[in-house]
Amino acid sequence: MILTTTTIDKIKTRMARYPSHRSAILPALTEAYRQVGNLNPAIYKEIAKIIRVPYVEVAEAASFYTMFPKNETGRYLLQVCHNISCSLRGADNMLLYIQEKLGIKLGETTKDNLFTLISVECLGGCSAAPMLQIDDTYYENLTREKIDSLIADLRTNAAHKNQEAPSTATPDSDSTDSKDDV
Ligand code: FES
Repeated sequence: MILTTTTIDKIKTRMARYPSHRSAILPALTEAYRQVGNLNPAIYKEIAKIIRVPYVEVAEAASFYTMFPKNETGRYLLQVCHNISCSLRGADNMLLYIQEKLGIKLGETTKDNLFTLISVECLGGCSAAPMLQIDDTYYENLTREKIDSLIADLRTNAAHKNQEAPSTATPDSDSTDSKDDV
């Protein structure tokens, strides 16, 4: 089993909110992603069993969303929207700036394993374009200064988490989740 009992309990709690088990697919994928940091067919299989839906329905949903990476990523997955509104308001420049700042290309992860950069379709934050998403948080009206500040904050946050880790980590606790809130 890949999913911990904590994650399984969270999935079951969320499943109980819906009249149809199928409605719990996205919440279940979200909980699994929060624990593991990426998704794969073995996880789809476990989710399908937990919420009692066909494997293919879980796999289909997971494959549709870029917010569920299928390969290992850095601690922070920077999803920069490249769609029309963001593009018109400078998303390409923001993407180039982030690549330059982090020393990586699209799809790559920094050597310290902190940041992975991808570009994605519209995230529904068009009124505050250009924007990016990390975990559940939107960072909007991006400028170079905001990106500088965001990356600095994330680095600080990661350093704090690393310092805390030895005293707080337990095999099945939320503190071991690979995706930290920022
Ligand atoms: S076009 Fe970027 S959020 Fe919609």
